[in-house]
Amino acid sequence: MDDAYKQTGQTIEQPIGQPAGISDRRDRPLRDLRISVTDRCNFRCVYCMPKAVFDNHRFLPKSALLSFEEIERVVTVAASLGVTKVRLTGGEPLLRRGLDTLISKVRRVPGITDVSMTTNASLLSLERARQLREAGLQRVNVSLDGLDDETFKRVNDVGVSVQTVLDGIEAASLAGFDSVKINMVVKKGLNDADILPMARFFHGTGQILRFIEFMDVGNSNAWDLSHVTTSREIAERIDRELPIRPATANYRGEVAKRWQYVDGGGEIGIISSVSDPFCGDCSRARLSATGSLYTCLFASSGHDLVPAIRHDDASKLPEALARLWSHRADRYSETRSRIDIIHPKVEMSFIGG
Ligand SMILES: C[S@@+](CC[C@H](N)C(=O)[O-])C[C@H]1O[C@@H](n2cnc3c(N)ncnc32)[C@H](O)[C@@H]1O
Ligand code: SF4
Repeated sequence: MDDAYKQTGQTIEQPIGQPAGISDRRDRPLRDLRISVTDRCNFRCVYCMPKAVFDNHRFLPKSALLSFEEIERVVTVAASLGVTKVRLTGGEPLLRRGLDTLISKVRRVPGITDVSMTTNASLLSLERARQLREAGLQRVNVSLDGLDDETFKRVNDVGVSVQTVLDGIEAASLAGFDSVKINMVVKKGLNDADILPMARFFHGTGQILRFIEFMDVGNSNAWDLSHVTTSREIAERIDRELPIRPATANYRGEVAKRWQYVDGGGEIGIISSVSDPFCGDCSRARLSATGSLYTCLFASSGHDLVPAIRHDDASKLPEALARLWSHRADRYSETRSRIDIIHPKVEMSFIGG
């Protein structure tokens, strides 16, 4: 038997649906799996897939993508090792045909209790939202980086209007998902003037707005610390007009710091991967559309699971996953300031945010 199994006390026969849990070298359990279902996107957000790099990019052919059955196999094994939450992402996940079929497969995997999707919502009609909901999708996170049309078009760089995304958010609300959260990446000088208008707009709606610090993911977005509006600055700007107070985390490892409006108008979240990194509780693994596993968002390379996924011997995949997670020691966010040599990182659109 593989060494990793001996170390963790985990057996391949571990009954599926009762995850004993596996931990990495920093005692962090594996709980979340983010799955990129496509590397393609209909947006060219300047902080993620800038045109200068991605307009000449050779995207993956369909034959290179994991099939839904293969994704289901990975989720089943991941669930047997402790994963309970799955998030579908990309690229833009709504570009993948038959997503509802994948969702129903994932939803049926024993042990998986939470299936969500992150989307730019530009293709989210009410009919599609209802179809995904019926298939078992529980929660949706929609990315919207401002309310000013000119600014938003400058961010997505393909001329999609704010109203198109608001229509997608409305469709998600009408479809009855357990929650619809809104994600706004804040890049100083680009859309930080929209922080307050966004807070005002979603205040009191029940939809949780989360601000994300512009991160140094990938190698193509010309990231610079001077472009980061810190979580502290974001909170201060909102607090001046709409007073907020810190709220306790919902669970260990929650990525966003929660803040409540003092007037009862709901809550916001702030994700400070740059100014206040959170590697200590990170329980996330990421699966690329081609079947590589990444144990950190800032990794240079992934681990190809395809040979194990396609191997006749069913124990290969559980062994490979358990070995990778139990050897994991990544904590890039916490050490970035001490890293002198810039190493190449994988693009966010490839492994999913
Ligand atoms: C890569 S996208 C994929 C899903 C979908 N296309 C969307 O935009 O929601 C997932 C998340 O990553 C965020 N993101 C992408 N690049 C980022 C960056 N450089 N810093 C912070 N967040 C980023 C996006 O805003 C989005 O919320
Ligand atoms: S953030 Fe999402 S919508 Fe924007 S380019 Fe990246 S993958 Fe596409």
